[in-house]
Amino acid sequence: MIAYNQAEKTVQNMAQQMAHAADQLQLHGFGRYYNAMVGAYVSEVYKTLPYSTFAQMTNRAQTPLCSVEQAITYTTLYGKSHFDRFSSVIGQIMGRSTRTKAVTKTINVVDYGCGQAIASLALLSYIETYVNCENFTLNFYLVEPSQTTLDIAVLLVSKMSSRIAANVVIHQHHTDLAGFLATDSHTLAPADYSLHLFSNVLDIPKIQQIIPTLSTYLQAIDGKQMVIAAGPQYSNNYTGLEQLKQSLGGVTVKQDITDFSVESEIYSVTNNHWQHSHSRGVMMGLCFKNSLDDAGKTDLAA
Ligand SMILES: C[S@@+](CC[C@H](N)C(=O)[O-])C[C@H]1O[C@@H](n2cnc3c(N)ncnc32)[C@H](O)[C@@H]1O
Repeated sequence: MIAYNQAEKTVQNMAQQMAHAADQLQLHGFGRYYNAMVGAYVSEVYKTLPYSTFAQMTNRAQTPLCSVEQAITYTTLYGKSHFDRFSSVIGQIMGRSTRTKAVTKTINVVDYGCGQAIASLALLSYIETYVNCENFTLNFYLVEPSQTTLDIAVLLVSKMSSRIAANVVIHQHHTDLAGFLATDSHTLAPADYSLHLFSNVLDIPKIQQIIPTLSTYLQAIDGKQMVIAAGPQYSNNYTGLEQLKQSLGGVTVKQDITDFSVESEIYSVTNNHWQHSHSRGVMMGLCFKNSLDDAGKTDLAA
């Protein structure tokens, strides 16, 4: 009974700390959110979920996470470097000039295997920094098989959205990619263009297997499309990026498959201290306009 009460209290504490971290995101942005998640890890999680257990239970975070404890561990381990890496890729592909003119745009953002929506948060942070988005409508489609991380993703995207002037609509798809393509993919709203985000997912075998169907789907969406993909420098990631590029065929290569590196301050769960890390990634950016010929002009203020 005492052990049960303790476990219940730990779960409650984690939920409270998660809510606090989400408030930090809304108030101060991603850096303070990450710090708060590290705080939750250090105060609640590290005693009960060692890295080796987490890695084994989740196949190094490739399989859907199934608890807030795992979600906090994931963010502590990878959140800051994944965010910095995807931010760097978006900046590289979309440019780092400030667009002050208010243009009216509807943009779809599909975050495939979104986890806790780190790629979508990086995009929102980019928009906050560089784009006058007061006349934007952003439709987020969050696709994720883990209900736990999907719930967190919806919370975080809504908190981060309150930092910008755009009208943001969030659609959640609790399914794997195969399920999304089979049943939900037709739900994209009419838009000026659609962004397709692949952050640390193209190395997953079940996703690679379905790339031909994914390409057919991407080629069937009306209008301008942009694919932004990134992941760590594992051979399976190069394979996934290459497969998607080849499968899509005649696209404008905005950013070819390229290695890059970012520097981040992260908390090392194996050494129990903060450290400066070089996060090495591989990225790709592709544009196409289905059935028309001026691909490559996709720009947040074009
Ligand atoms: C390494 S995590 C990346 C999460 C997030 N995109 C990020 O960058 O932090 C891999 C994600 O893919 C999801 N996933 C695993 N298999 C999947 C599948 N077949 N279809 C869609 N998502 C899948 C997992 O649930 C997990 O959220």
